Amino acid sequence: MGRTRATPFAGAHVLLTGASRGLGAVLADELAARGARLSLVARDAARLADVAARTGGAALPTDLADTAAVSGVADRARAVHGPVDVVVNNAAAFWLTPLDALTTEQLVTTVAVNLLAPAELIRALLPELRTRGGHVVNVASLGGIMAIPNLTAYGASKAGLAHLTEVLRTETAGAPIGITLVQLAAIEGTDMYDDGMKSPMIDRVVRRAARLGLRMSEPADRVARRIADAVEQGRSSLVVPRIATGFHLMRRSPIAVAAALDVHRGKS
Ligand SMILES: NC(=O)c1ccc[n+]([C@@H]2O[C@H](COP(=O)([O-])OP(=O)(O)OC[C@H]3O[C@@H](n4cnc5c(N)ncnc54)[C@H](OP(=O)(O)O)[C@@H]3O)[C@@H](O)[C@H]2O)c1
Repeated sequence: MGRTRATPFAGAHVLLTGASRGLGAVLADELAARGARLSLVARDAARLADVAARTGGAALPTDLADTAAVSGVADRARAVHGPVDVVVNNAAAFWLTPLDALTTEQLVTTVAVNLLAPAELIRALLPELRTRGGHVVNVASLGGIMAIPNLTAYGASKAGLAHLTEVLRTETAGAPIGITLVQLAAIEGTDMYDDGMKSPMIDRVVRRAARLGLRMSEPADRVARRIADAVEQGRSSLVVPRIATGFHLMRRSPIAVAAALDVHRGKS
């Protein structure tokens, strides 16, 4: 898989979203153990305070569906720990619901949390990342590559986040910014996993794969370690589990064609 700038976590100021529970809370533990100074974002102030207490991080309770609030998150993080070195866009809104049963609010929230908030955070941080160097980590999903029933809004938002990540690479080429796109199948020990297994298709795929000896899900602590390793080793992409890497490569082929045609030269 491709390379990007390698960013060590020791001493780095990491702005991590979705840190109150699930993968984000476990990732907070992993990054703190590697020496990161954490700014932790999610809505649930009490859970966030617990994670902050055990990791030495700063809790910044925020509703990322509120675009006006998102623009202030970078300033709040800088006020605590100074310039941000790494942003990890991990928070996600998820409803396992067909499009015509989603409310307008659920639809808007899904796109706002999963796509607009990462874009806004990156926009707010790009000037300092360009001058000081740093890393962007975007957490997407195989739900954004495979067409899975009842994941219309979630899948589309994650496909959008993955595409934004790939285009961002072209716009920041030459800048000292590492970009790691993380694409996950199923993470055991998360609320989203428990909800996701209610989809007959996801349940069937995971069970069929298991019968073939293939694991489509991994425990959250292992996923967190792999994400941290990918950033420290300068990997541009991480697909978990590895068996799903082929899906990612197929999705990347038009991007590789664009690079071969040199459409990025001059960037305009
Ligand atoms: N779990 C899986 O099987 C799976 C599979 C593929 C990809 N992923 C991806 O992995 C990442 C982590 O997922 P997870 O399983 O840990 O999810 P999770 O257990 O559902 O946790 C979601 C996190 O996002 C935060 N969040 C949700 N809505 C928010 C909002 N409006 N404002 C601020 N924070 C919000 C939640 O905190 P609050 O509720 O406190 O706000 C929580 O910390 C996500 O990007 C997800 O798409 C997960």
